[in-house]
Amino acid sequence: MSQFTEQVLEAYELAKEARGKAHCPYSRFQVGAAIKFKGNDNIYRGCNVENASYGATICAERTALVSGIADQGKQIVEFVVVVTDTSPATQPCALCLQVLAEFSEPQTPIYLANKKLIESETSFGKLLPNPFTEFKV
Ligand code: THU
Repeated sequence: MSQFTEQVLEAYELAKEARGKAHCPYSRFQVGAAIKFKGNDNIYRGCNVENASYGATICAERTALVSGIADQGKQIVEFVVVVTDTSPATQPCALCLQVLAEFSEPQTPIYLANKKLIESETSFGKLLPNPFTEFKV
């Protein structure tokens, strides 16, 4: 029996599928992500979408996140799955973590996976313990 829930396994499959759609002619590094939010069963996926103006590139995690927010409005992330083809599995970049901070909790699980398996589980709070959350002027 798998150590992961049905929903995590489903999200892993969806993230792998999304990874195949990555637009990455510059880096050739395909990334897929899937995010489940609390309060509904939907799973939103994303891939990296690169641009000739490199800085305009959008990572897979942010693609998945904004897809969910655009569909259902503000929600809290239940878990994130990220799929690359590396071992150890790649973790979300700091920019994606900062964007996730707006919708995540320290204990939010982040599953790091490659094409073969979900290799490890970490949490939002472990990857970004001190996000920037507010400012005063
Ligand atoms: N990338 C992601 O999609 N997610 C990350 O967390 C790290 C990096 C993408 C951006 C770019 O298209 C490629 O991977 C190489 O940096």
